[in-house]
Amino acid sequence: MDNNSKKYNIVTFGCQMNKADSERMAGILEEMDFTWTERPENADLVLYNTCTIRDNAEQKVYSYLGRQAKRKQTEPNLTLVVAGCVAQQEGEQLLRRVPELDLVMGPQHANRLEDLLQQVFAGSQVVATEPIHIMEDITKPRRDSEVTAWVNIIYGCNERCSYCVVPNVRGVEQSRTPEAIRQEMMTLSQQGYKEITLLGQNIDAYGRDLPGSTSEGRHKHNFTDLLRFVHDVPGVERIRFATSHPRYFTERLIKTCKELPNVCEHFHIPFQSGDNDILQAMKRGYTIEKYRGIIETIRRYMPDAAVSGDAIVGFPGETEEQFQNTLRLTDELDFDMLNTAAYSPRPGTPAALWDGQLSEEVKSDRLQRLNHLVGTKAEERSRRYLGRVEKILVEAKNHKDPTQVMGRTQGNRLTFFAGDIEQLKGKIVEVKITEARAFSLTGEMV
Ligand code: SAH
Ligand code: SF4
Ligand code: F3S
Repeated sequence: MDNNSKKYNIVTFGCQMNKADSERMAGILEEMDFTWTERPENADLVLYNTCTIRDNAEQKVYSYLGRQAKRKQTEPNLTLVVAGCVAQQEGEQLLRRVPELDLVMGPQHANRLEDLLQQVFAGSQVVATEPIHIMEDITKPRRDSEVTAWVNIIYGCNERCSYCVVPNVRGVEQSRTPEAIRQEMMTLSQQGYKEITLLGQNIDAYGRDLPGSTSEGRHKHNFTDLLRFVHDVPGVERIRFATSHPRYFTERLIKTCKELPNVCEHFHIPFQSGDNDILQAMKRGYTIEKYRGIIETIRRYMPDAAVSGDAIVGFPGETEEQFQNTLRLTDELDFDMLNTAAYSPRPGTPAALWDGQLSEEVKSDRLQRLNHLVGTKAEERSRRYLGRVEKILVEAKNHKDPTQVMGRTQGNRLTFFAGDIEQLKGKIVEVKITEARAFSLTGEMV
């Protein structure tokens, strides 16, 4: 390693989109001859890739930034970058709040990092938040895993859920072409990747903006067509995708997942609330009946499919009874996993201005009750694996027990078992499940 080269560190908050963007930005920095360091305090360049989905996510960023801004006062050569969703939301205001920053860049600009840094190194303080057409990937991402990888298929979101900042900070939908997606998957497979997760905020919107779409919303390249187009990339043994939107989810997609052997029987479909009036106020565009129908159809075709979702408690005006409807739906539908959150009013979203905002006490009490149920249900779901032989794709060492490796079932349950990572990494192994916890399993190789 070249000891004179400059060191960088990236701290990533938020969702898989941000993680994927960070991997691409790391790739760009390495092409610019920066080398990775584990410790931000040793780095010549520190990049925070930020999230603003809830207030606590945003506040975390400010506390980290404060420390580096202080360091910059004694080390003027330090380069400080804020990327991602807080950068997009706050823009110039971020510079006023933290004048030590060199670069503030929205998520659409991630692939332009080199160009933006050149402007910084030429002496400017740069803010890049204007909407642009996202550049096709120009560099090799530096990926965290050597076995599983993310591939963006659509950026942005055209929905207007009344609580959500994502459309404000990620911009309008931009689909990549089927050819570019397949090409990236081919490259990944040549590099030895075995599992690919196709990413979009609303994956069912894929293709709406590509040429060939019609005003009736029919298009040549919808998500189901894309799956058929990419499912057989040689060497890619597992394909997942997220996030699905109940409003657009189709039976045709379910049938296709069943038919294509490499597509995992794993669906992540947020429902957000178990109450129709709340769903309407959230502007989600579906009812509980429709949602329940989707899950029933999935299980009719694939009785063992894993189903996960997201839910929000304490939306403005949510009564105890309406919250009970969320508990009831969670109980009824047997989720393998549910991401839960207390509603957080976000700047620039309609619901933040509504009457009926609930107190933090009520919200956190409901969150705790829902989480308790989620844990109980997940444990029940895990127990169905006991005694079964599952195919596990081995990803890494178990960091808590180096004699074990960790991988996932095709339904995405974390699984640990005794084995040597050097021999097993990237392999699909048959494992007999001997212990089941709410969110993970333990087993033995057979
Ligand atoms: N596009 C996905 C999710 C994007 S955000 C979808 O449509 O479901 C990820 C999750 O964060 C959401 O599913 C929601 O449960 C949660 N979330 C978004 N905005 C929120 C807010 N203001 N308060 C609390 N949770 C929120
Ligand atoms: Fe946000 Fe709704 Fe878009 Fe999901 S679909 S990112 S919740 S606006
Ligand atoms: Fe957060 Fe932006 Fe993702 S707000 S959840 S990082 S799209």
